[in-house]
Amino acid sequence: MTLREEIIGDCRLILGDCREVLPTLGKVDAVVTDPPYGIGAANGAAVGGTDASGRYKRRPRKYDGTWDDARPDDRVLTAIVNAADRHIVWGGQYFADVLPAGGRWLFWDKLNSMPSYSDGEMAWTTVSGVSVKKFTQCASGLAANRDGREHPTQKPLALMKWCLEFLPDAETVLDPFMGSGTTGVACVKLGRKFIGIEIDESYFAIACRRIEQAYSQPDLFIDRPKRDTVAETPLLPGM
Ligand SMILES: C[S@@+](CC[C@H](N)C(=O)[O-])C[C@H]1O[C@@H](n2cnc3c(N)ncnc32)[C@H](O)[C@@H]1O
Repeated sequence: MTLREEIIGDCRLILGDCREVLPTLGKVDAVVTDPPYGIGAANGAAVGGTDASGRYKRRPRKYDGTWDDARPDDRVLTAIVNAADRHIVWGGQYFADVLPAGGRWLFWDKLNSMPSYSDGEMAWTTVSGVSVKKFTQCASGLAANRDGREHPTQKPLALMKWCLEFLPDAETVLDPFMGSGTTGVACVKLGRKFIGIEIDESYFAIACRRIEQAYSQPDLFIDRPKRDTVAETPLLPGM
């Protein structure tokens, strides 16, 4: 059931449960998503620091949630596969027993300098090719670029733009586990159409705001469409 729907530019954002919304949508060009992995990450990482007396204190967790306590059931994963011909599913190794044989695997190397739960993340894809491709961005410590994180498992925008470039023909991209809308922001920046579904009202609101901001703050470094520059280009030198 759709609880709310927002249209922002070329993005259609749906507040609802993707198990109910997915069967109501037609086929799209690609699904690019980051489902719950079932590893209890909805509470965010337990971090801390030393207080004035030098004693280590764990900081209160910023988030509170249970949505990552279980991975999506097999029927949702199958619906995701059937929703498009092209896919990028982050955390693919958690679903490898259900997902069909795919194409190339993508890897995000988090450059962790300290022992950590995981050195990086893998995406199952139906991108053609078999060799693994790697994106590198530090996720923790002083070198981390967290893009002003507002969601406990928010993906870096640069990562989502990078992976979308493997699907150059995908005009409309669906993310049924939208979270704070990073896939949508990446789509806006790359001129793609986007459909996002999110079950949590507060994350849905964050996604709406981030996508509105992506439209209102155009990226100065993005290639302008050719037609914008043609008119400004003099026909002859000096004209
Ligand atoms: C791993 S997070 C996605 C984070 C996202 N990639 C980002 O950058 O913000 C998965 C999201 O799926 C949402 N979710 C969980 N079950 C859902 C369902 N049945 N339908 C729609 N969204 C769901 C959770 O609330 C959570 O925000």
